[in-house]
Amino acid sequence: MKTIVANWKMNVGVRESVALARGTLLALRGKPHLPDVVVCPSFTSLGEVRKVIARSYVSLGAQDVSSQDQGAMTGEISARMLFEAGVTHVIIGHSERRNLLHETDELIAQKVVQAFTHKLVPFICVGESKKDRETTHHTEVVRAQLRVALSLTDRKQLGRFFIAYEPVWAIGTGVNAGVQDILEMHQFIRHEIVEYLGDRTPAFGVLYGGSVTGENAYDYLREKEVEGLLVGGASVKLTHMTEILKAAQSVLERQSS
Ligand code: PGA
Repeated sequence: MKTIVANWKMNVGVRESVALARGTLLALRGKPHLPDVVVCPSFTSLGEVRKVIARSYVSLGAQDVSSQDQGAMTGEISARMLFEAGVTHVIIGHSERRNLLHETDELIAQKVVQAFTHKLVPFICVGESKKDRETTHHTEVVRAQLRVALSLTDRKQLGRFFIAYEPVWAIGTGVNAGVQDILEMHQFIRHEIVEYLGDRTPAFGVLYGGSVTGENAYDYLREKEVEGLLVGGASVKLTHMTEILKAAQSVLERQSS
């Protein structure tokens, strides 16, 4: 299976989100080989987008979640609230939040606990900076991010999850990572997770994100180690998103024949 996650970030309001959701459904209609698709609108659009995708193959994701269960946390939105709003998936630890809002690995670990507690499937984002890559510290950095992110979750609480490998230098820059580099990192991540969680490792997938477009999506998706894509900029342009979905469909069709 392949999973395509559309991270609409703070780019579209309610009306455009509804239009994007409708367009995404249209792009999937009548196709025999469908990827799992998760759309992640901003909080204010969740309700309307939920109505559009009800009873479809498309799932509803949130772009973030509070690290706390409830209480005096002005402006925060809890996992319980997201669940109540029909959300099934949540992006956690996106590099924009790590960098711009100074989210730490420890905070991300608390958010992961919240997601599992309230039965949301987390997309846990990890990835190295340009400097880490240039100084060949990338695997070390990703290993530390992975371990801390899962460190507070009780092994019995673990549910299905995804790791989104998103090298910081590739996000929103137009400089996408090479397939070979991604394959190495995806294998590394899979190995690290299994080593860290051992017998308790639940089903999990490793996604790639960073300047994914309609043109490069197929090259990633055809690799079995790439279980899907987390798409930012291209996901708010329907023509690009449609191309990415087509790429996923052709890979799935080839795999089934
Ligand atoms: P991008 O963003 O596709 O615009 O690079 C990816 C992401 O932020 O998840």
